[in-house]
Amino acid sequence: MQAPPSPRAVRGRVALENVSVFRTADDGSSQPVIEALTLEVAPGECCMLVGPNGAGKTSLLLALVGALPFTGRIQIGELTLGERTLKEARRRIGFVFANPDEQLFCETVQREVAFGPEQHGLGRDEVNARVGHALDEVGLRAYAGRSPHHLSLGEQRRVAIAAALATEPDAVLFDEPTASLDPLARQALLDTMAASDRTMLVATHDLAAALELDATVALIQQGKLVSSGRGREVLTNQELLVRAGLATQGGERGSLL
Ligand SMILES: Nc1ncnc2c1ncn2[C@@H]1O[C@H](COP(=O)(O)OP(=O)(O)OP(=O)(O)O)[C@@H](O)[C@H]1O
Ligand SMILES: [Mg+2]
Repeated sequence: MQAPPSPRAVRGRVALENVSVFRTADDGSSQPVIEALTLEVAPGECCMLVGPNGAGKTSLLLALVGALPFTGRIQIGELTLGERTLKEARRRIGFVFANPDEQLFCETVQREVAFGPEQHGLGRDEVNARVGHALDEVGLRAYAGRSPHHLSLGEQRRVAIAAALATEPDAVLFDEPTASLDPLARQALLDTMAASDRTMLVATHDLAAALELDATVALIQQGKLVSSGRGREVLTNQELLVRAGLATQGGERGSLL
């Protein structure tokens, strides 16, 4: 009989088995917005969740941090997500919201990025080192003393990314990370992602980024996983993209590919 994998070997692995995620509809009923989804993201892998508006990408990410009710099994490393493991699971996961306003609450960029490491009980030197490193990663070291609330949307997104990176999570969940970034900031973020050995789950409409990173792609439509595989396989399958509502028959995305 095969021995169970050691905790080290599964660190950073995110595994979803038969997962359904529920939201409350206008009439108060609980409705599935993700249905029976099974997906495994290997340690260090970058998996891009793509699909039309309303497909369920954000809902899936929220379920992974226990922010929406779900059925099925979600594993973060060797942890099975549930009431008792939620706190520990959240320590291992960084989340970058689509809207930085929902995430940023401190008076300065420095405080914002330091918050997570401080919550983890790290000493001041370690916290400062992590803040410096994370701000360098997003090119915002000069902004350390600024108020996050007086920054542009793209700058705020970069602060939110730095805040997530500073906790050195096993896995990072990004919701639309390249939205509203200028071309150089977008490229810098993609470079950071390409160089990272962290597991990443990225909800995005930036199909070009998925191709550029040669990421794994999970194509979701109306709450169901319709295809998964290497970006270059999934995203160059015009017929599949048309069926999933991501391209038109005429192939308007032709120039992108
Ligand atoms: N706060 C909410 N309450 C109830 N239903 C919601 C809520 N937010 C989203 N939904 C519904 O849940 C479903 C999935 O939405 P979700 O935001 O997860 O999609 P998405 O794939 O992230 O879309 P987008 O590309 O527009 O960000 C949709 O049918 C949406 O209408
Ligand atoms: Mg979304």
